[in-house]
Amino acid sequence: MSDLKTEILTVDLGSRSYDIHIGAGLIERAGELIKPVLHQPRVIVISDRNVAPLYMTKLQRSLKRAGIQSDKIVLPAGEQTKDFKYLQKLLNKLLSMRIERRTTLVALGGGVIGDLVGFAAAIALRGIDFIQVPTTLLSQVDSSVGGKTAIDTRYGKNLIGAFHQPRLVLADIDALDTLPLREIHAGYAEIAKYGLINDPALWSWLEDGAGQKLVDGDKQVRAKAVYECCANKARVVSGDERETEGQRALLNLGHTFGHALEAETGFGGLLLHGEAVAIGCVMAFALSAKLGLCPQSDADRVRRHFASIGLRTDPSQIPLNHWDSDILIGHMGNDKKVEAGAITFILARGIGQAFIARNIATSEVRAVLDRAIAA
Ligand code: NAD
Ligand code: GLY
Repeated sequence: MSDLKTEILTVDLGSRSYDIHIGAGLIERAGELIKPVLHQPRVIVISDRNVAPLYMTKLQRSLKRAGIQSDKIVLPAGEQTKDFKYLQKLLNKLLSMRIERRTTLVALGGGVIGDLVGFAAAIALRGIDFIQVPTTLLSQVDSSVGGKTAIDTRYGKNLIGAFHQPRLVLADIDALDTLPLREIHAGYAEIAKYGLINDPALWSWLEDGAGQKLVDGDKQVRAKAVYECCANKARVVSGDERETEGQRALLNLGHTFGHALEAETGFGGLLLHGEAVAIGCVMAFALSAKLGLCPQSDADRVRRHFASIGLRTDPSQIPLNHWDSDILIGHMGNDKKVEAGAITFILARGIGQAFIARNIATSEVRAVLDRAIAA
């Protein structure tokens, strides 16, 4: 266990407020931390086949020490688990375990497990509590906070889901020790995204060396990055929980392009969500610069920094046989942000200055895509 001070943030949502703990050794202490938010001393821990062998025993022992009875369910790892089939399997398994309204689910894993378990919790018995124990960088800085839960369908990502806030989030920085480098990179894209949206100081900090330290495993830097991102997201979610006021929509920077790339690569291992977000951010800045909204030098900075960290910046770097801008634009039409048939983009006036842009000419989007495909 590393020597990190645990920080606690609160997502302020009135009676549904909850804490985010960020620190080391939190899975070992999970029982004592979870106990105060339970309605009965019983939880079901759901994880995936990569994470369960690493952390399930540690978590269940800690629960037992705190007098909490736990059962476990282990699902296959990967984006393909976030679908109707596994949702059904999970719900049937939960019902077979005779869960009650006061039973709490614990999602132990990355964003896939967090999103799936959160959605199952939202609809099981018309809604039960759940707790997030995020174990990827991406889930610690983004998906475990804010209550967006969902599954993917063949029409696109996250199109079936619910807003359902967790009761507690435990982000154990030590869990990142076992995370493959590619997943660290994917999470990094979501961290950098906060800088690009509204936190130029965070972006400069990353650019000035913290980014590389984070990727290399510096725990102080990782903890600070998780804290800054969660503080940012907690603020945004408290002010615009259901993405109706606009602020929360900004968190989708890079996602309109990114989701289209993910849809085209089939939500598989070819392109991870965070990797898609990195390319999507590069494209959002390229489109902003092309429209004269943002300096080209900022768009260049974004591309340069992601590349320096080891992230791909163009679809041409992904080994798909054929990219087609019209097919990608078709995927964008399935985005949740489509309004009256028009695609909404998050664009920027510069680093840290994102805004919502509607009525962007498809020809401009196609030009940016064509250039990226040919890069
Ligand atoms: P993931 O859950 O698939 O985890 C990535 C991989 O790492 C998996 O193979 C997993 O088994 C493995 N893993 C997890 N923790 C590990 C650890 N500590 N050590 C070793 N291996 C570990 O992917 P992710 O990147 O965490 O999440 C992506 C998902 O999150 C996408 O479905 C995306 O749509 C969703 N998401 C949701 C929100 C939201 O607000 N709800 C925000 C961003 C992303
Ligand atoms: N990841 C975007 C959101 O939570 O709103």
